[in-house]
Amino acid sequence: MAPDRPQLGPPELATLEQMACDLATSAGRLIVDERPRGLGVAATKSSDTDVVTVMDQRSEAFLRERLEQLRPDDGLLGEEGASHEGSSGITWVVDPIDGTVNYLYEIPAYAVSVAACVGDVRHGGEWETVAGAVYNPITDELFHAHADGGAFLRRGTDVQSLSVSGEKELAKALTGTGFGYEVAKRERQGAVVASLIGQVRDIRRIGSAALDLCSVGAGRLDVYYESGLNPWDQAAGQLIVTEAGGVVAGRGAAPPDKDLVVAGPAALVAALKGILKA
Ligand code: IPD
Repeated sequence: MAPDRPQLGPPELATLEQMACDLATSAGRLIVDERPRGLGVAATKSSDTDVVTVMDQRSEAFLRERLEQLRPDDGLLGEEGASHEGSSGITWVVDPIDGTVNYLYEIPAYAVSVAACVGDVRHGGEWETVAGAVYNPITDELFHAHADGGAFLRRGTDVQSLSVSGEKELAKALTGTGFGYEVAKRERQGAVVASLIGQVRDIRRIGSAALDLCSVGAGRLDVYYESGLNPWDQAAGQLIVTEAGGVVAGRGAAPPDKDLVVAGPAALVAALKGILKA
């Protein structure tokens, strides 16, 4: 059973946000600075194309060790297997490299995602993010937020406040999505995109769900949807969207979870859910 949710005021939330920023930035630098020449695939997961590199593992080990030192009472859930329950009511949900295939191919759209969450992160819809950061080490862009504090993008010393797109019409909406790694699931997702592409401005498949969500927060994508996301893909980015004035919804009245995540300004999310019959 997950411990009770802690009472967190603005100072505690700001501390968690700063920690998420520091961790995401340090791990992001690690995956660039210590990337070995001729990086290959260390392991595969759900299918032969669902890859793990040695740097996913090293980044997660780095995040785990730092969190053990800094926040020994907190829990941890990481994409590459880190998992333990804490006693504080806060669980860190980390994606050590989101966009691993881009990383493998040196396409500059990957990020480290670090989120402090409350609730039961092992059950979809039973948790929420209270602070988080997503760092793309190639563009040096750090997206960050804490609950009720607004969403921000820091690049070097420049910090800007984020707002979702003002677009109202789905027909003009640049729409992001992504695909899972299992063949049958990808084929179903491809069919959905085929039916949607005539009804939106265009489709983007960036290859990192965390960056897709941050792109929605920054108004670089009007709206985004995907099925099959895990908490580590979603946790930090969804707070960036909501703190930038958007909504993140699931199927029907359900919260956003593995079944479906739809993110963007409320009107576009409602219109897209209508088309997706969700
Ligand atoms: C993947 C990426 C991708 C999304 C997949 C995720 P990974 O995460 O976020 O954009 O479409 O659903 O699994 O494997 O690169 O950490």
